[in-house]
Amino acid sequence: MSFEKNILCIGAGYVGGPTMAMIAYKCPRYRVTVVDIDPERIAQWNSDDLPIYEPGLDEVVKAARGKNLFFSTEVETGIRESEIIFVSVNTPTKTFGAGAGMAADLQYWDKTARQIRKYSKSNKIIVEKSTLPVKTAQAMERILTSADNGIRFDVLSNPEFLAEGTAIRDLEDPDRVLIGSTQTPNGLKARDVLVEIYSNWIRGERIITSNIWSSELSKLVANAFLAQRISSINSISALCEKADADVEEVARAVGMDSRVGNKFLNASVGFGGSCFKKDILNLVYLCRYYDLKEVADYWEGVVRINDYQKERFILNMLNVMFNTLANKRICLFGFAFKADTGDTRESPAIFAAKRLIEERASVVITDPKALKNAMKDLRDVAGELSYVEDPYEASAGCSAIAVMTEWAIYADLDYKKIYRSMAKPAFIFDGRNILDHEKLFEIGFNVFPIGKPGLTHF
Ligand code: NAD
Ligand code: UGA
Repeated sequence: MSFEKNILCIGAGYVGGPTMAMIAYKCPRYRVTVVDIDPERIAQWNSDDLPIYEPGLDEVVKAARGKNLFFSTEVETGIRESEIIFVSVNTPTKTFGAGAGMAADLQYWDKTARQIRKYSKSNKIIVEKSTLPVKTAQAMERILTSADNGIRFDVLSNPEFLAEGTAIRDLEDPDRVLIGSTQTPNGLKARDVLVEIYSNWIRGERIITSNIWSSELSKLVANAFLAQRISSINSISALCEKADADVEEVARAVGMDSRVGNKFLNASVGFGGSCFKKDILNLVYLCRYYDLKEVADYWEGVVRINDYQKERFILNMLNVMFNTLANKRICLFGFAFKADTGDTRESPAIFAAKRLIEERASVVITDPKALKNAMKDLRDVAGELSYVEDPYEASAGCSAIAVMTEWAIYADLDYKKIYRSMAKPAFIFDGRNILDHEKLFEIGFNVFPIGKPGLTHF
């Protein structure tokens, strides 16, 4: 069968896999191939056990795979046969050299640009899907055109705004799709090709276009604004605990102002995920690079408050559990950075587990989807750690439960049964405010939510 377009995506991760599955699913006339240098990941994408857990993903992949959606390690063939290449490789924070701990590590990105240059035999549209520092498209274009082989490359910026756990819904019905291009005739022509692809299922007014630098920057700023809201409400949660106010009541009152809006105001044990911290630090680095010290300091505060919130949670546990956690069993309910994903990158639970081990506690971890990743994250940690799938079994004999992830199942457990099996006095630290605190208190627990006074029996 011949296809109308041949689309390639380099990088079969949390973004590449689901976004390309959605394009293939919505556009049977296009052939979509996703390549990766990691053969194990590709084998998983080709199996019944996909490499990532995401509600609804299995159905979309299964509907298109083998028809017009293909996963492969053949990067060279993929590049040669495609007209449009999405690049969705990882862009983590740099861990070495200049900008270590702040700037984006662009080595995977750079390598991809060189591979595209090497294997291309015809003109291509290159789409930046990864989150990148502003002006990266220029670097990409310079690498691509340095071969001077008469092949034309048009680089577009098309940042991805999906959130894990709701990726399929976000891809199917996004708030917006942003496409940035150069304002030259070729740039605009390339932009229109990408607009046409998304138009297969997304209404025109939701597809917005801009200049390429605005598009790159918008992605960093969108994540910075979202994270800023969480740090704002988390900072207020600390004040609520002191002032006998209730952060949920404050958030409701503030969020009902339509200028503020009511989303993303859940106080928590801190935000996690592979992107918020990395993207803000990247923004901070850019501001410092352009000598905008005040702007950099302002945004860095968002990350500082997040670190403070994570540490505050542990110090509160230590404080109310009589200033020692040594030899106490503490159960972490959830290890994923948010519900409905198995992803644990930058999860506050990693920080909590490490800090509790430092306090010589014995840590039991339970999570419906993230235990494998938890084991990997903590493999170098020396201390008493165990991993138990069943939350009843996990919490038995523990002095405290700390809710780290807002999995719906944790709200519906039989807490009378759990209380009976725990060491006394029994504590619950609800790092997500998802439990019925009054009811737990009546059962006998000492309860410590986020941003509300604790309920204690002594
Ligand atoms: P990921 O680590 O899950 O996936 C990246 C993949 O790229 C890996 O499988 C890796 O093996 C592959 N790769 C690296 N170099 C390669 C090369 N030269 N050739 C082929 N494959 C290569 O990362 P992710 O979470 O999918 O994120 C990718 C990008 O998207 C990042 O820039 C991230 O900031 C951005 N982003 C992520 C999310 C999210 O929810 N995870 C959302 C929006 C944007
Ligand atoms: C976030 C953005 O929401 C996406 O738009 C963006 O595409 C993505 O980053 C990215 O660039 O990677 P994600 O990190 O997957 O998505 O998940 P979020 O729902 O944003 O949650 C991030 C963290 O904030 C989680 O730890 C979550 O539990 C926490 N959070 C979220 C709160 O603590 N309170 C809230 O009110 C909302």
